[in-house]
Amino acid sequence: MSADLIIGLQWGDEGKGKAVDYVSPNYDIVVRYNGGDNAGHTVVHRGRTYKFHLVPSGILHGATGVIATGVVVNPDSLREELSQIDGGAKLLVSHRCHLILPSYSLLDRHLEGLREGKVGTTGRGIGPAYGLKALRFGLRVGDLFEATLPAKLKEIRRIIEYLGVEWIEPDIAAWQSTLEPHVGDEVEFLHKAWNEGKRILFEGAQGVLLDLDFGTYPFVTSSYTFSDGLHPGSGFFPGNLEWIVGVAKAYTTRVGNGSFPSELSGDLAELIRTKGAEFGTTTGRPRRVGWLDLVALRYAVKLSRTNLIFLTKVDVLDGLDRIGVVDAYDIDGQRVQEWHDFGDTTLSKVRPVINWLDGWSYSYRSGEMHPAVLRFKAYIENSLNVRVGWMSFGPRDDETLCML
Ligand code: IMP
Repeated sequence: MSADLIIGLQWGDEGKGKAVDYVSPNYDIVVRYNGGDNAGHTVVHRGRTYKFHLVPSGILHGATGVIATGVVVNPDSLREELSQIDGGAKLLVSHRCHLILPSYSLLDRHLEGLREGKVGTTGRGIGPAYGLKALRFGLRVGDLFEATLPAKLKEIRRIIEYLGVEWIEPDIAAWQSTLEPHVGDEVEFLHKAWNEGKRILFEGAQGVLLDLDFGTYPFVTSSYTFSDGLHPGSGFFPGNLEWIVGVAKAYTTRVGNGSFPSELSGDLAELIRTKGAEFGTTTGRPRRVGWLDLVALRYAVKLSRTNLIFLTKVDVLDGLDRIGVVDAYDIDGQRVQEWHDFGDTTLSKVRPVINWLDGWSYSYRSGEMHPAVLRFKAYIENSLNVRVGWMSFGPRDDETLCML
């Protein structure tokens, strides 16, 4: 029996798609359990480029994909993604997943318009889907196949119009035909697979610092992105996990608003953004960039009980004279080493304490890592008290080094 989890430790976009693609040949089942098509990754597999938002990327290696209860599903996105997979996909979609109706993206923008400080959402209707779910006005995948569907749609239309947003009729027939071959109950499926000794990989969306409760609220997404989100998101007990692999970039990025203590600006930020192609897969927005923030990472590791790190995009820092890592924060002259849910007033006073490490001209060449990269890795391991199991130096599979 083995079940492992891969999650992002920063503000999303850590390169989880690549990490999952790299390890997924070892698994029989790959599972998404949170978020929706706000997530996005590009996977290069056998020379072909795939863009996934909802479908777990491990499916390309022949694993069975599961979209579990905690995911909010836009069937139009799902149809488009499935059309990329030749010969059809082995995919189970939980009948409990909530659907994102066409009006929800209008509602998402409408709600952003009411705010003093914009969250900077992806505009995909994620917040409204989770919000209406909690208000018990949600529509679930299973509802598409029930006689009560017209009454439920009427009810949702009523609340959408009450909130001042135009109602857009979903194309129910198309949604039914997209979902019908895949609907099932993942709880039964996953527990049976687990008992039969199948290998299961859970794939978290976004990153720990975007968690609805433990992230930088309100500049967060609307789902549970830390490891325990797995439980409400799939019914699978996180205590059964063996490896909790946290994916982190060698620096930090954030798309959308909210605090970012290690943020860089000017030419250096531009250089890293351009070299790292730091533009959102879902929205194309330029990502904010900063040095590796070990204070924030220690918090993410602690919260999610990460026991291995997958460090990505090390090559993006090639050629820099020196590399910054944030070891602590300075708040009014006081040194703070632990992340807190700083209130807004304190947050505005947080200054990063940067430690400078030697740069490197190349990170990985002829099977060898540059000595400065080895020191960077050791520094991270000591600071987080977790081993770095993989490092990646480019988008291709053969640019990943496994050190297990
Ligand atoms: P929402 O998830 O669309 O509601 O957006 C809420 C916040 O989460 C915004 O700051 C988004 O930029 C951020 N966000 C959502 N999904 C992702 C992702 O996959 N990568 C990075 N940021 C994301």
